[in-house]
Amino acid sequence: MNVPRSQQFDDVYFSVQDGLAETRHVFLGGNGLPEFWQGRESFTICETGFGTGLNFLALLKLWRDTAREERPKELRYISFEKYPLTPDEIRRYLSHWVELAEELEMLLAEDLPLGVTLELVIGDVNEEMPKLDAQVDCWFLDGFKPSSNPDMWSETVFANMARLSAFGARLATFTAAGFVRRGLMAVGFEVRKVQGFGRKREMVVGIYNH
Ligand SMILES: C[S@@+](CC[C@H](N)C(=O)[O-])C[C@H]1O[C@@H](n2cnc3c(N)ncnc32)[C@H](O)[C@@H]1O
Repeated sequence: MNVPRSQQFDDVYFSVQDGLAETRHVFLGGNGLPEFWQGRESFTICETGFGTGLNFLALLKLWRDTAREERPKELRYISFEKYPLTPDEIRRYLSHWVELAEELEMLLAEDLPLGVTLELVIGDVNEEMPKLDAQVDCWFLDGFKPSSNPDMWSETVFANMARLSAFGARLATFTAAGFVRRGLMAVGFEVRKVQGFGRKREMVVGIYNH
């Protein structure tokens, strides 16, 4: 498998074991999807760190594979990315997953199914997130590891998450770093550690009940 790595942040974009399985465990499973969106007319997900788009494609596939009456009609996916990859890079990194082939073509052709919108915000999350207007139901926190990419785990990000969260909004992230958990708790999230993916012992999920 061709797993992209960032030299600048000394980290991989997704698990070298199996990126798609990691996405499903951490971000989909961690947020209780697809059950959590059942019965909802519209549903909004916000991600920090679009990267290759693997999380988006896995989510899009889940939505497409779910019966119409059991999925939201309107799915809004917002994602921030400061260092966008090229379409060729995205194709190279994701074509490994044959089961995502249709979703990958949809993304690259900018031809998403009716009802699904992707808002890819190019820029620094700390500058762009304060400008966002949304009611977010689920957060996918997917910066590079907090020790090398602290900008993605900043007080600005956490404060804006609280501002933008719908009542009962959920979050999931691969990291269990103490300062991330404390930062999320400080703005009102209830967080807990759960079983991580693969060799990672722990990850964090949370809920915003304000
Ligand atoms: C672990 S990767 C994301 C993986 C991605 N979710 C995927 O499915 O491939 C982290 C991403 O955060 C981006 N990033 C790092 N610092 C950022 C910042 N300050 N603002 C916005 N994006 C940033 C990186 O360029 C990288 O694409």
